[in-house]
Amino acid sequence: MDKLRIQGGHRLVGEIAISGAKNAALPILCACLLTADPVHLHNVPNLQDVRTMLALLGHMGVHIDLIAHTPGATGQTVTLQAQKLLELTAPYDRVKAMRASILVLGPLLARFGAARVSLPGGCAIGSRPVDQHIKGLCALGADIHLEHGYIEAHIPGAFPAGGNIYSTPTDNAKPIRLKGHRIIPDMITVTGTENILMAATLAEGETVIENAAREPEVTDLARFLVAMGARIEGIGTDCLVIQGVERLHGATYTIAPDRIEAGTFLCAVAATGGELTLRNVDPTSLDVVLDKLREAGLILEVGTDTIHAIMRDRPRAVSFRTSEYPAFPTDLQAQFMALNCVAEGQACVTETIFENRFMHVGELIRLGASIIIEGNKAWVTGMPFVSGANVMATDLRASAGLVITALAARGETTIDRIYHLDRGYDAMEKKLCAVGAQVERIGSMPTLSSPSIHEVARNEAHA
Ligand code: EPU
Repeated sequence: MDKLRIQGGHRLVGEIAISGAKNAALPILCACLLTADPVHLHNVPNLQDVRTMLALLGHMGVHIDLIAHTPGATGQTVTLQAQKLLELTAPYDRVKAMRASILVLGPLLARFGAARVSLPGGCAIGSRPVDQHIKGLCALGADIHLEHGYIEAHIPGAFPAGGNIYSTPTDNAKPIRLKGHRIIPDMITVTGTENILMAATLAEGETVIENAAREPEVTDLARFLVAMGARIEGIGTDCLVIQGVERLHGATYTIAPDRIEAGTFLCAVAATGGELTLRNVDPTSLDVVLDKLREAGLILEVGTDTIHAIMRDRPRAVSFRTSEYPAFPTDLQAQFMALNCVAEGQACVTETIFENRFMHVGELIRLGASIIIEGNKAWVTGMPFVSGANVMATDLRASAGLVITALAARGETTIDRIYHLDRGYDAMEKKLCAVGAQVERIGSMPTLSSPSIHEVARNEAHA
């Protein structure tokens, strides 16, 4: 199992190109199931969750044709075509590897009339049920029951065509479709909104999703669906209105920049000091985050797609409360907690999205942080310094928090179970080393020789 060895105490100076957003890429890859035509995606980040999603799509029979670096662009280009599928099932082993596999449910059901998706279990950060995905799809007319750990879904009367091959029925055999409906999820859910939105694009008539998630990743998915011919109004608001169409077509699309990756590097420079320029970033998706970083003392110059950050002094501690977009993102809670560990003053961090997202606290304390947890609040007292130690990553964003603390610590830190970090960050240690950090991967699988999306997807598609 790979580990990261970090020598702390180096200022970060230089330029980092931000990759495409993981949480936009994952639903957009699933949306390719909604059409028989090829879909071309640019700026796809090269990270484990994307490889896992491509492997799942390849397993179902999606043809993953071309994956290449686009000259002058960041990220990778992936071409997918879901003309005919061999499987309408997302099996347990794959969903267990990545909960976002649930995002195939809406598209499969809407286009093929049936889907079988393993029910994701709980995970390290919370119980994370998917009841709102199911409720929404049932409101659109799906018949869904749970059996043997699987979500068994179909549209009554729809029998997916063709023995072992599933394809869109021809014009003379019109598909039985989901039916538009008004849906109000009990709480704001990102992937829940995405699943219902994707299903609604091919439903008959109008669907209204109220209390919809407004996260930029939902917006990016909606824009991609529009590029495929979907009719969606209210994009970026909490009320999405979808007029279902009979068919969607192929599209070419560039995945939006990852706001969480950008926020992570900004927290890193705020904790270590130095001067960083982020390229290929969308500052408009980071409003609250940039305000909090200014409060912490980071000097920011914001361009259209760049952010220049200078940190000269020790940061000031900042209190915040996670909530749905446009409020402070839970996916940056651990990174800001890391910043607070070395800041001047005391801060209160309140987590309102997930019930168990303080797993990193025990490990931060091993590095010398002073943190007290009371329910969903963590009181952090900034220390003049923290010191390197052996620690263990517990989930993706917790790993990023540990990396930031280790970069600011005196001496050497070794972070175990770094596979969590690889799930969601594209070449993080390479990017950090390029701006002066001393980060070394130790273990069996160095990043540079790890399989590219290309190799994994092709192997899967042909397995
Ligand atoms: N919830 C339910 N029932 C549902 C759906 C959600 O009770 O049917 C609850 C959840 O348990 C949670 C809250 O609603 O308490 C919000 O969860 P949400 O559904 O919004 O989370 P998600 O869609 O599973 C996505 C991101 C997460 C990010 C959250 C919140 C993807 C693939 N994942 O998860 O990203 O933390 O939204 O913004 O988009 C990460 O990248 O590290 C990550 C965990």
